[in-house]
Amino acid sequence: MSWQVLIQSDVVPYEPITRLLAASDCCLHWWRDAEPPQDIDYSCIDGIYSYGHFPVTRLLMERCGRLKIVSNFGVGCDHIDQNGARALGIPVGNTPGVLDAATADLTWALLLAAGRNIVAGDHFARGPGFQKYDAAVLLGQQVTGATLGIIGLGRIGYQVGRRAIGFDMKILYHNRTRNESAEADLGARYAGLDELLQQSDFVALNCPLTPETTGLIGARELALMKPTAVIANVARGPVWDQEALLVALRAGHLHAAATDVTYPEPLPRDHPLLAEERLVLLPHLGSATRQTRDAMSQMSVTNLLAGLTGQDVPHRIA
Ligand code: DGY
Repeated sequence: MSWQVLIQSDVVPYEPITRLLAASDCCLHWWRDAEPPQDIDYSCIDGIYSYGHFPVTRLLMERCGRLKIVSNFGVGCDHIDQNGARALGIPVGNTPGVLDAATADLTWALLLAAGRNIVAGDHFARGPGFQKYDAAVLLGQQVTGATLGIIGLGRIGYQVGRRAIGFDMKILYHNRTRNESAEADLGARYAGLDELLQQSDFVALNCPLTPETTGLIGARELALMKPTAVIANVARGPVWDQEALLVALRAGHLHAAATDVTYPEPLPRDHPLLAEERLVLLPHLGSATRQTRDAMSQMSVTNLLAGLTGQDVPHRIA
């Protein structure tokens, strides 16, 4: 008997996923548009595999007559109604741990790129304006010895902090709860949000998107930051107010910003953030290394199969 799996993706998913699913006797029903498809028999759906970020609502889960599992390719499950899944007794699996290093590496790539004008420098070096070496051109912010503020010191934030030790940085962090073992390991100090923003030269957003973190960084918070500061968002777009960010960047408040995430994602091609030179922008590449994608594929398919066969889901978030 094959398992009937609703696979949510408006692109062709990473090839190892479809290979693993095919080898596991999964019959795939594609959900390619924003709305779930109309032409499938939901009463026979055993599992939902979420590769993109379309909302998985309670209504949809209720509609799937035989649903046993929702498996997400990725750690952030803000697009899945986890309370709804709990109420229905449907396990939700995700892929924690395996993507921490890649996402922390990318956080640093963004902080360094924004702080040291890497993208602007690349454009300048290729353009007609670069005729002579000029030691006063494109001056950035010193990373070594600066203060780093990590908002969200979970698994990924911890890895961001570990990398900061190599830059001799002073580390502040802000979290829902204090993390005393990380304080001991990293020499990090817990700070209130306002204090962290006022004192940090570099700020990394590494928290999950929850009702508490939605709009966490708005105009007031950006105004607290040093005019020379750099902020990078490797969490989810709605953690900051991107319109307020644009105003702050245009006003010359902040040295620069960088983001891997936006809302909506992607932004409309005429969105003003796309024209902002002091913003480094990536297309959601946090965990995008081949090694990490392979590990995420394996983990998410393992979660799916465990749920389908009634076993404990190894990485269960709800
Ligand atoms: C994650 O793991 O949450 C990534 O952002 C991909 O969704």
